[in-house]
Amino acid sequence: MDPHDHRVGHIDARIDRHALVARLRAAGCVFAEDEADLLLLEPRDADSLERMIAARVSGTPLEHVLGWADFAGVRVPVDTGVFVPRPRSEFIVDAAVEGLAPGSVLVDLCCGSGAIAAAVASRARVEVFATDIDPRAVANAQRTLASAHATVLLGDLFGPLPADLRGRVATVTIVAPYVPTGDIALLPHEARDYEPLTALDGGSDGLEVLRRAIAEAPAWLTPFGRFLTEVAEHQVDAAVGALEEAGLRAEVLTPDESSLVVGWAQE
Ligand SMILES: C[S@@+](CC[C@H](N)C(=O)[O-])C[C@H]1O[C@@H](n2cnc3c(N)ncnc32)[C@H](O)[C@@H]1O
Repeated sequence: MDPHDHRVGHIDARIDRHALVARLRAAGCVFAEDEADLLLLEPRDADSLERMIAARVSGTPLEHVLGWADFAGVRVPVDTGVFVPRPRSEFIVDAAVEGLAPGSVLVDLCCGSGAIAAAVASRARVEVFATDIDPRAVANAQRTLASAHATVLLGDLFGPLPADLRGRVATVTIVAPYVPTGDIALLPHEARDYEPLTALDGGSDGLEVLRRAIAEAPAWLTPFGRFLTEVAEHQVDAAVGALEEAGLRAEVLTPDESSLVVGWAQE
């Protein structure tokens, strides 16, 4: 049997994989073959599959078409209008998991779909709190984290967290919006057209949201607790400066195109 013959759902409609790959490629999908396979694996009827293909061909991000993303080995639901988790953020998950003692508290700020929190929770026994300012992201993250020991709250950064968490947070993870306002127009259209500005725009130098989170972090962290964040390479020095100004010891873990910067709380 040809493994590329797909029968869609329970109806007898065969979709020609080769034609689908050609259609996706013509629409500019770089990974047309992988995308075709993912679309054809969806257990949908022919009409809804055609609607998904049409959406993808018109530029909707694959993850929004599928309704999920594979992030750090976890299938994360991603709703329309919610930021699609990026593979580069998997570094934060690895670093977070490495230092977390069982039962400790993880706070994922700017949680979006809840991808980072869910990936950490899949590998470490932690109590998770996640916050986001966008109600769509919060609803999405609540679904993502439904089976984890997690509380997802709507609001600005640390604002909605219970006060008794102060001084008890072992690790903060945050991928804040970090694109400078002036660079938003340069983003790929999939980001500009399908992801909300609140998820992308980090103000004049891209660090406005992150700087506020850093300033508040010491009040929430345990002694030697960690604040893990991702910034662009050109923002590393400013992020390190903000961490040090807040009294955290800063370390840069991946001096790369996007960099993982860590702030350690002092004793
Ligand atoms: C770049 S996305 C990252 C989402 C998620 N952490 C991920 O990696 O997929 C930034 C997220 O920050 C949220 N956000 C922006 N400003 C915020 C604020 N002041 N407080 C809480 N969340 C905020 C946005 O709604 C968006 O979901």
